[in-house]
Amino acid sequence: MAEQVLGWYDHHRRDLPWRMPPGQLADPYQVMLSEIMLQQTTVEAVKPYFHRFLARWPRLSDLAAASQDDVMKLWAGLGYYSRARNLHKAAQAIMIDYNGHFPDNEAELLNLPGIGSYTAAAIAAIAFGRRAVVIDANIERIMARYAAIAAPLPAAKSAIRAALDIMTPADRSGDFAQALMDIGSRICTPPRKKAGEYSQPQCLICPLASGCQGRHANPASWPRKPAKPDRAKRQGEVLILISDDQHIALIKRPDKGLLGGMMLFPTTGWPDGSRRQIDYPVEPDSLIARCQAVYEHAATPQRMNTAVEHVFSHFELTLNVTVLTGLRRQDVTMYEQLIWCPLADLGAEALPSVMRKVVLLLEANDLLQPE
Ligand code: ADE
Repeated sequence: MAEQVLGWYDHHRRDLPWRMPPGQLADPYQVMLSEIMLQQTTVEAVKPYFHRFLARWPRLSDLAAASQDDVMKLWAGLGYYSRARNLHKAAQAIMIDYNGHFPDNEAELLNLPGIGSYTAAAIAAIAFGRRAVVIDANIERIMARYAAIAAPLPAAKSAIRAALDIMTPADRSGDFAQALMDIGSRICTPPRKKAGEYSQPQCLICPLASGCQGRHANPASWPRKPAKPDRAKRQGEVLILISDDQHIALIKRPDKGLLGGMMLFPTTGWPDGSRRQIDYPVEPDSLIARCQAVYEHAATPQRMNTAVEHVFSHFELTLNVTVLTGLRRQDVTMYEQLIWCPLADLGAEALPSVMRKVVLLLEANDLLQPE
């Protein structure tokens, strides 16, 4: 497989300013400079900065001797400024700790400021011809597809490393890594949502296609996504107050926040048992407890056997529903802001889905029929 990938690189690689012709080692200073710039930044954005830095500081010793201010100024616009500070410090560390001899192996490179496992492996392979397993996000995606790795990220990382380790050649592992980067950017592309469609990887022109296990099984579905964390579970009580003149009580939510500006049946808060701030639809006291006065003038409260379930983006709500009919409106005093809506007009109110589910439950039990 590596041979095919290197053969592809020889003819189809991107022509990038920090690259040498196939089979040749690149200058370590230029590799470090480009790789640090390319962390979290696109190739196109990096190109002009790479040229400016080299024009100003052609050698590692020039950069090490520069003032930090000047380095930061030339970096301005590229973002993630800690990279610039670390680049400068790394240059100085190589001049001082290594007498200007660039460390040529992953272990020593890892000790330099701002150089993590990806960058250390990339420099060791591209600049020093060391065999190194170079893994960035693009290569991760390629390998998850190639080896059809079932585990989602980040659990898949060890399997990805193992699969790539087996494939990485002893010679030209820098070219091999850069070939994968090019394949990742042009062929084995991420699933990008465009006008409702997913861009599919270009397997027909991929040099890895013959060995790729994901190719015929919707390759864009790798890497697998981790399962969403369980949503918080919340509970509440909702009270259906129906008056003797066939009106039903509603409360308007404040404009801001959950269900802002919508109409709800009176409800308790929806606590989830955690200490997190909870956006109460009405107020946190037990609504039922506050209704004792109302009960005295009404038919016995009827607790529905079925609760209403509704999924919000961050929590799942279970609402118990209690119905009181035959109320005199003037007796219902616990909420000043109650709005009495004629039963026949309920359908025109701005009820959110969760409250529409309550309506459906009431209708299914014949509780919304005018008497
Ligand atoms: N992204 C990070 N390093 C790269 C490189 N050497 N070539 C192309 N894209 C890259």
